[in-house]
Amino acid sequence: MLSGGPGVLRRAIRPLLSVAAIFTTAKSFRRSPVLGSPLLNACGLHVARLIVAHLMMGLRIRLFGVMVPAPDRRAFARTGLIIKPDFLPPELFARIVAEAERYQGGVQEFQEGEAITRRAMFDDPASAPGPATRSLETWKPLARTMAMASGGAPAIWSIECVVHGAGDPQATLHSDTFHPTAKCWLYLTDVGPTEGPFMYVVGSNRLTWRRLVWEYRRSRIARDLDDGHSEHGSLRATSDDLIELGLAEPRAIAVKANTLVVANTYGFHKRSMAPAGAMRTAIMGYARDNPFLPVSLPPVGVAQGLLARGRQRYFRWLRRETEAGRIAGRRVYVGRLDR
Ligand SMILES: [Fe+2]
Repeated sequence: MLSGGPGVLRRAIRPLLSVAAIFTTAKSFRRSPVLGSPLLNACGLHVARLIVAHLMMGLRIRLFGVMVPAPDRRAFARTGLIIKPDFLPPELFARIVAEAERYQGGVQEFQEGEAITRRAMFDDPASAPGPATRSLETWKPLARTMAMASGGAPAIWSIECVVHGAGDPQATLHSDTFHPTAKCWLYLTDVGPTEGPFMYVVGSNRLTWRRLVWEYRRSRIARDLDDGHSEHGSLRATSDDLIELGLAEPRAIAVKANTLVVANTYGFHKRSMAPAGAMRTAIMGYARDNPFLPVSLPPVGVAQGLLARGRQRYFRWLRRETEAGRIAGRRVYVGRLDR
């Protein structure tokens, strides 16, 4: 009788999976012997992934861009940002603010340093965003803008409340991953210059020659970087790096309530500092997709119900794991977002 069958199989399959991961969103140099290989990256593996992913996502962004006003499309391609003050009709915005203020439901909370992020996920069966808030998901000007920014990836929506605190890794300038990926915030309150506005290096979304050279150098040593994030594929950048890349210092995006900010978070960005305990609330959308595929699976507008059910299952699992204390730094509770 054969013994250790599954173990042998796992050992045999693991190298294949490591190679297959080249064509996925996998980004950790540390965890993958292939993605983190100094030899393969010296031969150009990381920059080859960058080039293919950016070409493919560039096509997808252009395709979905036909549904978006030309100035927004151009601003997003040039700067990596879209900023739209007075985005929602005032009555709809007022209803959404009232729903967020009254919110009582499931909240997922996670802590980074002393900063706390709370989210009421639209697709979490335990959470309860109001009807006006939920309607945003399919409100055409927003849905189309996010579809463009993400190249058609279905977005995950939440009401997000950030409580500032010391030691927040999000306050260090970084790129989320190696390919274009979209995040947006519709701010429910004013976020002034001293209240921790989002900061973004304008134009750092573009894969320039200088950026390729910089990424190439980083990729050769990335496995051994040790800031807790770069080695896992979210590269940190310093002021010296920005000079090397020919980029300006990050711009603080101070906004009035009812401003929509959409960002390609391949570009360098961070949270700015604010007094500990300062709080801000926004409707947050997030969309990330396999950048090597010509279309999202499932494409936007197709099999949405299936996707929502899959997420509900995932959020139920996440809640169980969090309640059991198996995910460090995470908590779940039922209550208000601003407790
Ligand atoms: Fe980020």
